[in-house]
Amino acid sequence: MRTIKIGSVIIEQSAALAPMASVADRAYRLICKEQGAAYMVSEMISAKGLCYSDRKTEELCTVDDRERPYALQLFGEEPQFCAEAAKKLMTFGPDIIDINMGCPVPKIAGNGSGSALMREPDRAFAIAEAVVNAVDVPVTAKIRAGWDEYSINAVQIAKGLENVGIAAVAVHGRTKKQMYHGCSDNGIIKQVKAAVNIPVIGNGDVNSPEAAKRMYDETGCDLVMIGRASYGDPWIFRRVREYLDTGVILPPPTLEERLDAMVRQAELAVSFKGERMAMAEARRQCAFYLHGIKGAAGYRGRCSTLTSLDDVKHLADEIRTNA
Ligand SMILES: Cc1cc2nc3c(=O)[nH]c(=O)nc-3n(C[C@H](O)[C@H](O)[C@H](O)COP(=O)(O)O)c2cc1C
Repeated sequence: MRTIKIGSVIIEQSAALAPMASVADRAYRLICKEQGAAYMVSEMISAKGLCYSDRKTEELCTVDDRERPYALQLFGEEPQFCAEAAKKLMTFGPDIIDINMGCPVPKIAGNGSGSALMREPDRAFAIAEAVVNAVDVPVTAKIRAGWDEYSINAVQIAKGLENVGIAAVAVHGRTKKQMYHGCSDNGIIKQVKAAVNIPVIGNGDVNSPEAAKRMYDETGCDLVMIGRASYGDPWIFRRVREYLDTGVILPPPTLEERLDAMVRQAELAVSFKGERMAMAEARRQCAFYLHGIKGAAGYRGRCSTLTSLDDVKHLADEIRTNA
């Protein structure tokens, strides 16, 4: 497997797991890592929350050594806060710090951070420069194509970020206005790759080994990043890796593999967060794993009633018995 370098961090050139708040937590990331995800980025972490030592925010920063190489992702709107937060993040030992410049949700973009930075290039550059100067690990940024179809400026933003020392840029080929609708545009990722000398990570709608190869071939990007297609399917990373290596498409996971992963992810989540907090999220995660299996609709209803790890294990046993 070929590798790329972000600063001095070596990453295998297969597929990375995209940051996904409230979804890709430590347990989720570990399961994806076991199936061959090349690189992981944490859920976004509020720079202000970290500066004010919000306990929940600190929990988000905790990562597992088995996830390396990994990035912790910050969001914020003020260079000083972001720099101070980046220094705090260093106590958690990230390989890379990533800055979120793509989140479209009103709570984030409405406060001047995330994708709002696509509309304010100078502030985006000031934040990037402040963070680069604050830490001695590579700093990367994750951007979108632009704010809307009239302001596609990913190339300008990526070049400016490179100028202030950003070590790689991930590009999601949608505008902020598109949120998650419509199609992600590989063309803008190709333009960014042609314009900068730092590694470019291509992201958006990669949902199969073939789509991953297309992202590499069409854009020339250095690394592909997968988000939603990993819901309940961490094996996508193994399938992408195998396809890029050998051209072979591996078979989908068996029911047994799915149930094992479902239980294991719930076990990991409970060990990291405690049963109450873990189970609130495990309901959704379990439903992902059961997508498309025989009787899925009925089981999905059951997922919403799960309250303990034992419930998850019993559900898995019941599905095995009925299979
Ligand atoms: C539930 C959810 C949470 C997300 N949270 C983040 C986040 O914390 N930081 C970030 O940069 N992007 C976040 N994203 C965007 C993804 O990283 C990714 O750019 C987007 O889903 C497109 O990739 P995909 O088509 O492979 O899913 C999130 C996306 C989803 C669906």
